[in-house]
Amino acid sequence: MKLLRLQTHQYDDLARLLHSSLDVWHRTRLNTDRFGSDWRPFRPMVEIYEALDPGCCVVAMDDGGPLLGAAFFHPRETHVGVGIVSVSPTAFGRGVARAMMQEIIRAAAGMPLRLVSNAMNLDSFSLYTRLGFVPQMLLQSMTMQVPEEGWPGLGTRVRPATAADVGAIADLEFRLNGIRKEKDYRFFVDNHADFWRLAVIEKSDGQLAGFLAASFLPAEIMLGQGVAEDEETMRELMVGLMDQSFRGKKVAFILPSKATLLVQQAYAWGGRNREINVLSVLGTAPPLTGVTLATFLPESG
Ligand SMILES: CC(C)(COP(=O)(O)OP(=O)(O)OC[C@H]1O[C@@H](n2cnc3c(N)ncnc32)[C@H](O)[C@@H]1OP(=O)(O)O)[C@@H](O)C(=O)NCCC(=O)NCCS
Repeated sequence: MKLLRLQTHQYDDLARLLHSSLDVWHRTRLNTDRFGSDWRPFRPMVEIYEALDPGCCVVAMDDGGPLLGAAFFHPRETHVGVGIVSVSPTAFGRGVARAMMQEIIRAAAGMPLRLVSNAMNLDSFSLYTRLGFVPQMLLQSMTMQVPEEGWPGLGTRVRPATAADVGAIADLEFRLNGIRKEKDYRFFVDNHADFWRLAVIEKSDGQLAGFLAASFLPAEIMLGQGVAEDEETMRELMVGLMDQSFRGKKVAFILPSKATLLVQQAYAWGGRNREINVLSVLGTAPPLTGVTLATFLPESG
């Protein structure tokens, strides 16, 4: 097995691999048909990850054969984000994911690695914890339907972020959570391929109290990543962003389970749990003092 970096001509092959890996895993392990039969919605995800972090996708291949697996990584100022990791169903259990992860750990050169994984997935949980990742926080993925009429009059302090906010957004995350990823926020504000929203709330002194991004791939609208000083601010960001951009749409988000106000609010909105997730870190893990919405686009936490 060879470990190489993803090439442009492999984008369709990787989108097919991502689909079949997730689809087969969910059908065989959880008996759910979550990903349907179409691989094409995964292609924009590959393009976005490569545009954000060119050359940061490790692929595993047999000589001249098809892709066996792929693992994206996202180098940032304070750490390296990891994900998504996927292996072809025909190669599950052969050490492919472990080999790709070891290559990413080598490339990280001592920087901490962070990822969000499905806690209902014993294969990935075992893979990461065997490599030394330590679970930090329990999260829950939820979906809900935003009412057609939205919530007029609520979330009015929420405003779109501009390029001038990007430094302050990254600084706020660093102050609250000890990690910094300015590159992500600049990418969102530039709104590559019209896939992103980024919103902020300011305090009366002009300092930021929180921010929240959203991505909308063909497959799914997802809120996150976002960080706020407190749960009330995060609730206002969620309400404002959904009201301004996603009326009548189905949205997904990942809440920290200990954020009880947000969790109860999500249930009151009709939110349904879809997955249990866990944030894990290999290396130094600064305390998370902000209220944080993780996401898989790009992998954060
Ligand atoms: C999760 C996934 C990437 C794992 O890939 P894989 O190539 O089969 O994993 P590997 O064979 O490299 O490694 C699995 C490790 O977990 C260990 N393991 C698996 N189940 C275990 C269990 N129940 N208890 C303890 N260890 C276990 C294996 O022994 C192996 O460790 P080792 O190499 O030290 O022996 C693969 O199942 C997949 O692609 N799933 C669908 C996509 C997905 O869910 N991605 C992860 C998103 S968070």
